[in-house]
Amino acid sequence: QKLEMTLSQLEKGGYPHFMLKEIFEQPHTLSDCMRGRVNVEGNNITLAGFIDNREKFLNARRIIITACGTSWHAAQIGMYAIEEYARIPVEVEYSSEFRYRKPVIHKDDIVIAISQSGETADTLAAVELAKNAGAFIFGICNVVGSSIPRNTHSGCYTHVGPEIGVASTKAFTAQVAVLTMLAILIGKEKRTVSREEYLNLIRELNLIPEKVAEILKKSGQIEQYAKTFTYAGNCIYLGRGYNFPVALEGALKLKEISYIHAEGYPAAEMKHGPIALVSHEMPVIVIATQSDTYEKVTSNIQEIKARKGRIISVVTEGDQVVRGLSDFSVEVPETLPCLTPLLSVIPLQLLAYHIAVVKGCDVDQPRNLAKSVTVE
Ligand code: G6P
Repeated sequence: QKLEMTLSQLEKGGYPHFMLKEIFEQPHTLSDCMRGRVNVEGNNITLAGFIDNREKFLNARRIIITACGTSWHAAQIGMYAIEEYARIPVEVEYSSEFRYRKPVIHKDDIVIAISQSGETADTLAAVELAKNAGAFIFGICNVVGSSIPRNTHSGCYTHVGPEIGVASTKAFTAQVAVLTMLAILIGKEKRTVSREEYLNLIRELNLIPEKVAEILKKSGQIEQYAKTFTYAGNCIYLGRGYNFPVALEGALKLKEISYIHAEGYPAAEMKHGPIALVSHEMPVIVIATQSDTYEKVTSNIQEIKARKGRIISVVTEGDQVVRGLSDFSVEVPETLPCLTPLLSVIPLQLLAYHIAVVKGCDVDQPRNLAKSVTVE
């Protein structure tokens, strides 16, 4: 039998699109990103970029994270984790705003620049600005040897390999993993994280790749449901706490590749505006995993139901209440709240992907978008 494949098919490793390949690579890319960093036997987390600059991190007055696009969403999750575990105030900035708004930057600030490509013009300019102000600059990038890592004092690569799909997926989860490892490590060194908490975080981090693999098995189920979306012109994504930035990311994925207008909102903000848009034509995607705000999110869902909105939910395995209220639910395994974004984003990546395919969109190269934005 003759084996015929084009170069492009070969590159996609049998997947119809790079984006789907990259979504499915995540159990491996997350392991690669954590390899040598999260050590279960040794019960520790090591990040070379941290060890070399330990005092700077321990004495930081503030951390400013600057990024664009999906990397900015990872930054938001990093803010939640660093504030929770390292107890250092964090500000998240759009690089394009930060560089032009004459920000106050102190010498004892740490500026973290996040960029998959390492070439985004605004983020590179933000790095230069912060460096000139005397701050310590730490990069979280994927492309080794790119401009941003070359211009930072230290950093941590995400090590997910080339990301080809314009819509970022595997780079995002690795950025979140790096920020989480950093938050936990600073917290352990500052003793704002107890030994017991530290060991539990390491154990749970280590289980993430296999939990991601579990969720990926639901791709077919999500694909079936995606077909009902072709009618939608607008969608709302809701989440709270660590899942609020995931709602933003889910909405961005959908906008980018399916051209359906989507907005991410903190679930409780819904009643300050977006609820006015809810009707039977409006799908509302809610991340309602187990957390201390689960009941509150459940009551938001009831309000949407009362207005005949269509509910698609991401819930924790075994959930009954939210599932019962939803038109369609995807279960994700249980984990610690700070790690839920690594799981809850997966169904949203798949949902955006399958909707775009059903609509016949060019998933890997959406109109008007570029993989790396090297101009202002
Ligand atoms: C572009 C890409 C996005 C990416 C953003 C930031 O808009 O299409 O996927 O999130 O740039 O890119 P960076 O390489 O800095 O992470």
